[in-house]
This record gives sequence, C-alpha cells and structure tokens, in this order.
Amino acid sequence: MSPSDPESGALRSLIEAEIARRGPIPFARFMELCLYHPRHGYYTRGLGGGGGRDYLTSSGVHEAFGILVARQAEEMWHRAGRPERFFFVEFGPGEGRFAADFLQAAGRSRGGFARALRYLLVEPSPVLQARQRARLQGRTLLPVEWVAEDAIERRKGFEGVIFANEVLDAFPVHRLVGTPEGPREVHVDHRDGRLVEVMAPPSSEAVGRFMAEAGVVLEDGQEADLNLAAPCWIAWAIGLLARGYLLVIDYGHEARELYHPARRRGTLLAYHRHRTSEAFLERPGEQDLTAHLDFTALQRAAEQAGGRCLGLTTQARFLLALGALDLLGDPVGAPGPGREGEAVDALRRHQEREALKDLVLPERMGDRFRVLVLGAGEVTRDLRGLSEPWTGNPGAVHAGPAAPGRGVDGTAGHEVA
Ligand SMILES: C[S@@+](CC[C@H](N)C(=O)[O-])C[C@H]1O[C@@H](n2cnc3c(N)ncnc32)[C@H](O)[C@@H]1O
Repeated sequence: MSPSDPESGALRSLIEAEIARRGPIPFARFMELCLYHPRHGYYTRGLGGGGGRDYLTSSGVHEAFGILVARQAEEMWHRAGRPERFFFVEFGPGEGRFAADFLQAAGRSRGGFARALRYLLVEPSPVLQARQRARLQGRTLLPVEWVAEDAIERRKGFEGVIFANEVLDAFPVHRLVGTPEGPREVHVDHRDGRLVEVMAPPSSEAVGRFMAEAGVVLEDGQEADLNLAAPCWIAWAIGLLARGYLLVIDYGHEARELYHPARRRGTLLAYHRHRTSEAFLERPGEQDLTAHLDFTALQRAAEQAGGRCLGLTTQARFLLALGALDLLGDPVGAPGPGREGEAVDALRRHQEREALKDLVLPERMGDRFRVLVLGAGEVTRDLRGLSEPWTGNPGAVHAGPAAPGRGVDGTAGHEVA
C-alpha cells in the first residue's frame, strides 16, 4: 500500500473488517471491492485510463478506433433496414474518448444514420461519468444520454448496437488452482497484519458448474482465472436487444487455449503506473486488476440466451477490413533547413501514423485484442468488419493467432507503454 493514498488505506481497513466478520473472502470478492467499492474502488474513483495513468486503451491510442467502429455501426444500421431510431449503447465509456470520436464521425455521415442514431452511455462511476460529460460537451449535436444499468433494463427491446471495449476484462475473477484433491479457490485472509492468499474449496456451486461447462480440468499447480460475470452480462445484454448486434472488443482466448496446461499461471495481472505485476493484494483500490476473457464462454452464453455468434476476429483484421489504411495519411518526408514549423508538423504526422500502427499491427495491439460480434434477432453477418481485409470477401470468422498471457511468455492485456 502506498502511504500517500488514504483511500487505499480506508479500503484496506474495510476489507480487513469484512474478513474479520466472514472469514477469508474469495479473491473475486476482494477484486470487486478493489475495483468497484462505491467510494474507494479503483474505477469508482476514475483512476486508470485518465491521462494514461496506468494503461492505455485503443480508444486513447488513435481516433481511428472510434471512426472505424462508427463506420461499422452505420453499416449495421443499413443491414437492419435503416430503422428510424437506432441505439448505440456504450458500456464502460471510461474517459469518453471513443464516444467523442464515434459521434464526430457519425455526425459527418450522410444518408440518415446521424438522424437515426441515439447514443447511450452506461457508466457506473460518477467520476468517470462527469469526465465523459465534459469531454462531449459542445463536441456533438447528436442525441447523447447517460443511462443507469437498471434504467437500460426498462428500455429492453430496442434496435441497435451494444458496445463494450475493455469492460468485461475488468469484471472480478475467481482464481482456481489444481491440486491432487481437486480444484481449490484462492481466498484472501488477514494474518499477522498482512493480507495473504489462502486456499479453500470452491466458493460456490456456480464455480463448479462453470468449470464443468467450460471443460476446465486443472493439472496439479495449474492456475486459471474464471470470469463468471462476463457470460452472465452477455446473456443479459443479448436480452436487451429486439434486434441488433453486440460488439465486444477485448483481450482473451478461446477456452482450449485459455485453460491449456501450458498456461500454468492464468492471465490475471495488476497494472500500476504502466507497470504490470502479480502483487494483486498490494495497493487495494489503487491499481487495476484484469484478466483475459474466455471467448468460448461468451459465445456459449449468447447462444443460450437466443443470440448467435457472427464472428470472432482480431482487432487488426477488423479495423483493416473497415478501411484503417485510408486513415494512414501521407508518408512523412524530411523538411528543408530552417523550416521548423514543417518539422513539427512532420513529427506530429509521424506520431499519428505510429499510433494508428499501434492499433492494427499484429505485434502491437492488432492481434492481442479480439473482436466478438454477436447477433440478436434477425440480423445478417455480411459485415465489412468481418470480411477479409484485402479482398472484401464476406464470411471470415477468424480468431487469429494465439496470444499467450501470463504464465507462458508474460504477454499482458492492456497497453502499458
Ligand atoms: C478499462 S476501462 C475501459 C474504458 C473504455 N471502454 C475505453 O475504451 O477506454 C473499464 C470501464 O468499464 C466500466 N465498467 C465496469 N463494469 C461495468 C458495468 N457493469 N457496466 C458498465 N460499465 C462498467 C468502468 O467503470 C470503466 O469505465
């Protein structure tokens, strides 16, 4: 714990008091308190992405991200028969950068999309919500509204797109470890004045059910992080749509890769000031905690809720298919002597190109992030973002190469640098 952060100290005391009352708590409960405690939680306080404090998301890397998703949303509106009202519901908008870029691009579109669009933001943190409002203030004339999660429930049955970029990876995970006696779950205890990890039987039947459904069999000593909340969220979100699409962009893998014995240590990581660590119990509420998603579980949940998986691709393929290269700008030439202004411009253009390359190059964020497109109701899957980037042919359902996480080669989720 940093002695400079009284909020973290207060949260730590609350966690210790809960352990004193209940006994050791599942790690998922600890993570929930760290990230979402109504006063001291990391996201509640709006730490993290602000000014790129702990990590950067695609939304903060380059405006192309919002512009290209707007292009995809406009096509989805066309595919849905150009309804008069088309909702775009962004969950967890963070700093509001994506919304600003999306709305600016949508505002420039011709042909009725801007007239039909209703942009809703669902953000539980009041601090982040205030920042989103400030960022969008005066930036768009399109209808924008902040809606609480329970209020969106009352609007159930709308047509449109539900969007979540790097939201589900921040849901609390249950940490399971294989032992000869069967799986044990990491709990957090308070001993000798310190928070420590202890092993206990799985904390609920839901954990066992999830493992059985996902086919998770852990070898002795192998760890896995189980995100039970993400598939529940997917099923709930599919149920909100009368007809439309659910677009999830995040890091993760299919189950066979995620729970493979080669991945001995799971994928959970702590992020603090652009550094990753496995010191999960340090600085409660002051560092981000995040784990890779199980895309197989998300697809299964969508199908069980009556939805359909339309495609799972990489961010690189998705953005390139949507025309990322159109936004690359001219190559930067060297300016002549005594032309400092030109030099500054050239440098800026160079930085822009590098940022766009961060989004799409496979070895940067391009292959680490996946795009899952789910459909609800009667929708088609001939979407530009799912087409072959070079040919425009429809029908590419491609998950891209494996991107191993912690425990294999230490590849992290968020962008840290
Ligand atoms: C890592 S940030 C991602 C921010 C943003 N989407 C971006 O691209 O920069 C996670 C965001 O998800 C929000 N969040 C977490 N759980 C949520 C939930 N159940 N519903 C809506 N937002 C949620 C957090 O408050 C935060 O804004």
